[in-house]
Amino acid sequence: MKQSINLVIENALQELRTAGTESDGYEIRILLSDVLGVEPSVLMFGEVEMDEAQEKQFHESLEKRKHHMPTDKILGHRGFYKYDFKVSEDVLTPRPDTEILVEAAIEKIKGKKLESGKILELGVGSGCIICSVLAEFSALNGVGVDISAQALAIAKENAKELGVEKRLDLCLGNWFDKDFLSLVGKEYDILLSNPPYIKSEEIKKLDEEVKQYDPLMALDGGQDGLESYRQIAMLAPSLVKNGGYVFLEVGENQSKDVCRIFNAAGFVTEEIRKDLSAIERCVVLKKMSCI
Ligand SMILES: C[S@@+](CC[C@H](N)C(=O)[O-])C[C@H]1O[C@@H](n2cnc3c(N)ncnc32)[C@H](O)[C@@H]1O
Repeated sequence: MKQSINLVIENALQELRTAGTESDGYEIRILLSDVLGVEPSVLMFGEVEMDEAQEKQFHESLEKRKHHMPTDKILGHRGFYKYDFKVSEDVLTPRPDTEILVEAAIEKIKGKKLESGKILELGVGSGCIICSVLAEFSALNGVGVDISAQALAIAKENAKELGVEKRLDLCLGNWFDKDFLSLVGKEYDILLSNPPYIKSEEIKKLDEEVKQYDPLMALDGGQDGLESYRQIAMLAPSLVKNGGYVFLEVGENQSKDVCRIFNAAGFVTEEIRKDLSAIERCVVLKKMSCI
């Protein structure tokens, strides 16, 4: 049976509202377009016809959304930088703010002619950062580490999809373990990380979409949110070459503390980049040659 698109969207919004989930027409259009296998722009006006299987899939998507599952986790993928990445409940959904770190790293690699160098990412999650950087330079090699085997499986799929899997070693590891350095090696040109940085006590205040569907270990930065930065700063002098660089995503109001932690470990602050909301989001540090 043909139905008006606007009516399908309005009914879906009403259903979600009744269940206590805020949504909008754009989000419903995305879910509907996924079910119908068309671009969302095709669904601006007119009528749609869903077969039984499509009706069922649309209904299931709405049920998931009612339980606060974010759209990208319902769809199983999310656009980030230039690519589309597979996502699941095992990985942090890539955030637009993180693209700033990717852009900063790509600029530095070009500027410093590190195109055939070696990069390391601590906490790869979906692989969105390291895969995007590797995809830009065909002679660059990388190692990505995560504490979650499930996240590494997703990162592996994404690396394959972007054609960088032969240049990316993925390792299961915990940067708090004492033998961590022997696992990942040393002398990287660039260290990248978007570690967990939310204060433990703030986790309960997060939106349901984040709290329920992003893994806790991707969010919880300990009592003051800085525990992983302190640990990474302790390891960084061994991990990074003299004159090499560290790129870190930081939470709101953390840039000064993070710089201070890394300055004390022998790194000088090169740059702090703001996100679109003018929040200091990405810190770039350089390892001094004399340590
Ligand atoms: C904020 S997420 C970042 C994921 C991805 N790089 C991104 O930017 O979307 C942090 C990642 O670090 C991993 N992680 C947290 N603690 C870790 C630890 N102690 N050792 C290794 N990985 C850890 C988490 O599993 C998670 O995938």
